[in-house]
Amino acid sequence: MFSYSLSPDGDVLTLTAPDGTCSRFHAVWLRDNAWDVTTRAPSNGQRLIALRDIPADLRVSKVNMSDTLTLEFSSDERIAYDPAWLMRHSYDRDAAPAPGQFDPHQEGWDAGLSKALPTADFATVGREPAALRDWLAAIRRYGFAKLTGGPVEPEALLQVAALFGYVRETNYGTYFEVRTEVNPTNLAYTGLGLQAHTDNPYRDPVPTLQILYCLENSAQGGENMVVDGFKAAQRLRDEDSEAFALLSSHCATFEYAGEAGVRLTARRPMIELAPDGALQAIRFNNRSTAAITDVPFDKMAGYYAAYRRLGEIIDDPAMEVTFKLQPGESFIVDNTRVLHARKGYSGAGHRWLQGCYADKDGLLSTLSALEHARAAE
Ligand code: FE2
Repeated sequence: MFSYSLSPDGDVLTLTAPDGTCSRFHAVWLRDNAWDVTTRAPSNGQRLIALRDIPADLRVSKVNMSDTLTLEFSSDERIAYDPAWLMRHSYDRDAAPAPGQFDPHQEGWDAGLSKALPTADFATVGREPAALRDWLAAIRRYGFAKLTGGPVEPEALLQVAALFGYVRETNYGTYFEVRTEVNPTNLAYTGLGLQAHTDNPYRDPVPTLQILYCLENSAQGGENMVVDGFKAAQRLRDEDSEAFALLSSHCATFEYAGEAGVRLTARRPMIELAPDGALQAIRFNNRSTAAITDVPFDKMAGYYAAYRRLGEIIDDPAMEVTFKLQPGESFIVDNTRVLHARKGYSGAGHRWLQGCYADKDGLLSTLSALEHARAAE
């Protein structure tokens, strides 16, 4: 049984749950978050009122707690509430946590994740909603997952995106080719490795997911590597909070103008935090970092030291997970969090991957719908 108390002037209602948890709610918040049919459309849940419809000096004038909670407001409205819903949406907590926190659905990782790569089977996730849900939940948790057993045919990566959402088309097309033929006459030839990076930081918004799909991988080397950028940012924070603050409180500039008619530029921090300090995005890409001009002169030396140290952490083998894709295998990264790289390759053979971008809102929406359906079962 819930119990309640009302402040003397009716502006704050305190609810106590059967387990003893207390939570305070403001009258204006309660009115705005009513679920009666005059406030929310029963068909789609959209709010039918605007804040301007609620008096600024609104008070709760009377409370009736029986099986449900009924509030009477100074506006003469009488509305029933589900106290359990209110407790699930409590905002009565202490001040924001320290900067650099993961979302509760996320979990940081390092090289240790190599022992149990989050992986699913292409046909199974296409057939079984529970398997799809688990795979998408792994992507939400780790910002990275593999998919094995897919068809070895061009454009199969589009089927991967269609499992949860939509491809984001860019000036590189619906998808792009990552194709290299190692010179078979020169076995000493070594394909260049790339430093771990996030893709396209010069876009705003940045593509939030990337899919890389392997069609051929017979060259020696050519492994893919991923690094948890949020974990790297936390490591920087724990080593040197001032360095973390420099990278999160100043914008870098990223740009790409490598083809005719394209001049992409974005001004965003390398470590982006939400207003409450939660980790929101990492942007790290040496190839597309432009002149950084948003750091005051007296902070630039420290900024560069922080940028260098973040790169060293990202390059630390203890942070990386490496794997070699076989034809028909792919992986997906949360491009706002997880950096990816290609190791060098050599010897005779071919390496052919196709890549595309997609967006996380669609993935998280599909996951949430699957979770909601399971909860309703
Ligand atoms: Fe890339």
